Amino acid sequence: MASNVLRCFTDFFVYETAKSVVVKSWTVGVTNRFVQLLIILYFICWVFLHEKGHQVRDTGIESTVMTKVKGLGYFNNRVMDVADYVVPSQGASSFSIITNMVITANQTQGRCPETDKKFTCKTDDDCNKNNSSNIGNGILTGTCLINTGMCEIEGWCPAEDDSVYGTPMKEVENFTIFIKNSIRFPLFDVTRGNFPSNLTRSYLQNCNFEHNSSCPIFKVGHILKQLNQSLDNITEKGGEIGISIRWKCNLDYDEKNCNPMYFFTRLDAVFENSKASKGYNFRFAKYYHSEDGTEYRTLHKAFAIHFEIMVSGNAGKFSTVPFMITLVAAFTSVGLATVFCDIILLNFLTGADEYKAKKFEEVSGIVQESNRPFQSSQMSIKALGKSSNDSGTFSIGRQE
Ligand SMILES: *[C@@H]1O[C@H](CO)[C@@H](O)[C@H](O)[C@H]1NC(C)=O
Repeated sequence: MASNVLRCFTDFFVYETAKSVVVKSWTVGVTNRFVQLLIILYFICWVFLHEKGHQVRDTGIESTVMTKVKGLGYFNNRVMDVADYVVPSQGASSFSIITNMVITANQTQGRCPETDKKFTCKTDDDCNKNNSSNIGNGILTGTCLINTGMCEIEGWCPAEDDSVYGTPMKEVENFTIFIKNSIRFPLFDVTRGNFPSNLTRSYLQNCNFEHNSSCPIFKVGHILKQLNQSLDNITEKGGEIGISIRWKCNLDYDEKNCNPMYFFTRLDAVFENSKASKGYNFRFAKYYHSEDGTEYRTLHKAFAIHFEIMVSGNAGKFSTVPFMITLVAAFTSVGLATVFCDIILLNFLTGADEYKAKKFEEVSGIVQESNRPFQSSQMSIKALGKSSNDSGTFSIGRQE
């Protein structure tokens, strides 16, 4: 019992140290250096140069966007300017350009026949069936108007008939969108704009993103062309387009090299062939009073190209902590070559058993001068190969 405790005690206080086995084999030697080279190349090319493993990264980009649309077009024989077709008018990062409208003028509160084909009727009973639905233009009164064959509604009359389209405003193709985007990387306190502040007004009025990627003026037609969208289709039914501004900055270089890249996407591409809901439309009305005090409104069902400007980005700068961590990871990983070489050495090479015997040596008890097995093993190594030039390590001779 007491001796057991003592054994545990002495077993605990031991020191283990790795014993090196030098293998002079071309196969393993070349494999070892090759794997080490691969690992070093991986760290230099991918981790440091591409992924910037030595940098601290700021992904919390702060950004603001201002937009301004310019252009004139015709709709229903009327000239449309910016105030007519841009909704909302604030010039935010999300806005629509109306390209087509169904206009129902002079609506007043009252009773009139429904226009939707779902509300045809022969008797009053037909008009009492689905009077709780949300799809009508007004509240059904339950009366069938025999002369028109439609149910009667109470609401804004005459009811809108949205099967009557106008001719879309095709001139939108030549409209331009000016985008002003300023960003900040709070971690490094770096502020940048999407165009240099020394650009002159006359330059901005004449330049074009199509020909100069530092010019923040985008022609709608150019964006549509980039996206392979037909002008006819998108102006008639509307659609949603994303303009993505990406900032990826390496602040180890001058801030002047920190410039954005622009990407265009058709955001509603999934629904392009949808039968239920296609394009982009919304309704709005303009209200006014006639001289006798009656309230009128003009209802617009607008089909529009909706633009969504999305800003994303990150910036990196050298920092000692990530640099040291990555460097240590790189050095440690070079040691992985050993694992790979051991697998080859101990399993696939001729004389694998002999290598195994040399690599894994069992020593029991305290080694003494008179310990025959250990000494003989030491001697057999010496007999087999030359002594190493590296002190403290044994050499095993090349097999070939
Ligand atoms: C847009 O401008 C071009 C060149 O000025 C012109 O040829 C074209 O007809 C214009 N497009 C529309 C729809 O007006």
